[in-house]
Amino acid sequence: VAPLKVGIAGLGTVGADVVRLIETQGRALSERSGRGVRVVAVTARSKAKKRGLDLRGIDWVASPQALAEDPNIDCFVELMGGAGDPAFTAIETALKAGKSVVTANKALIARHGLRLAAAAEKHGGALNFEAAVGAAIPVIKTLREGLAGTSVNRVYGILNGTCNYILTRMEQEGLSFEECLKDAQRLGYAEADPSFDVDGHDTAQKLAILASLAFGTKVAESAVYVEGISSITPEDLRAAEQLGYRVKLLGVAVRTVKGIEQRVHPTMVPKSSSIAQVMGVTNAVAIDGEGIPPITLVGPGAGGAATASAVVADIADIARGIRVKPFGRPVERLRDTTKAPMERH
Ligand code: HSE
Repeated sequence: VAPLKVGIAGLGTVGADVVRLIETQGRALSERSGRGVRVVAVTARSKAKKRGLDLRGIDWVASPQALAEDPNIDCFVELMGGAGDPAFTAIETALKAGKSVVTANKALIARHGLRLAAAAEKHGGALNFEAAVGAAIPVIKTLREGLAGTSVNRVYGILNGTCNYILTRMEQEGLSFEECLKDAQRLGYAEADPSFDVDGHDTAQKLAILASLAFGTKVAESAVYVEGISSITPEDLRAAEQLGYRVKLLGVAVRTVKGIEQRVHPTMVPKSSSIAQVMGVTNAVAIDGEGIPPITLVGPGAGGAATASAVVADIADIARGIRVKPFGRPVERLRDTTKAPMERH
């Protein structure tokens, strides 16, 4: 079989790590997926930037749109970020041309995921976004495929590495919020605009995606109640600690009699609970399914290598020929969040 020809748009930390991983894991990848994977074209804002990558033999394409239209690629990998264009139009173009798409862009999936999923379903390509939530933690796959036989009642957790990193260091070292945020930015965890992290919107976008997969509802970021961590002080954390609690920024989506309730806010969790043990940039997602004990996934939730690992896994699925419905069921079958309690599996 001819190798899967991959085009990558965006060569920041994640994009560069994806190129490296495909290079170093090439043989293992093709053994696992039964088909070779080759990066054949890339595009990024600056060609001159030093990335430590050997791009010889790889086409440099002028724009994301040109890459999406390139007849030489089978799989368009979007790692530019941004909830709108150029990412959105480029992805839609690639899908309409029957290509498969991999993206780590939660803002875009939260906003346009349903429209893009409909295009993927119509034209037969895959739309994979495992890296959009929980980086290396396979949480999308778990909800979409692993728990297809379960009715989920609640999904919740720590979904933003930057916030958890800040809260951990404030608590353990008594540092100020601003100092910790600067370090999170320096380490490459934070969004380009870190207010998305600390104001809770990044968590809200990820929660909205998880809720859709868990409950078969339309992604609805606007339905999420959001409160961030920027007004929390080391003193607040000390006071919580004296009462036997830690403060975590949690995203919670739960099935209620009125529909799916979704909220993001700082929460006091008992120090003895497993969620309280999750420190630093780590994320954790807990899933309560009907009749089964909770399932918890814990792992690195941000950073180039962790995100790149999920992107490459998504590419491997495409090489294998796996085409699942992006939201686990046909887009037209997804219900409004208010109607979710009516139907059980
Ligand atoms: N800024 C995000 C975080 C990156 O800190 O979790 C991963 O989505």
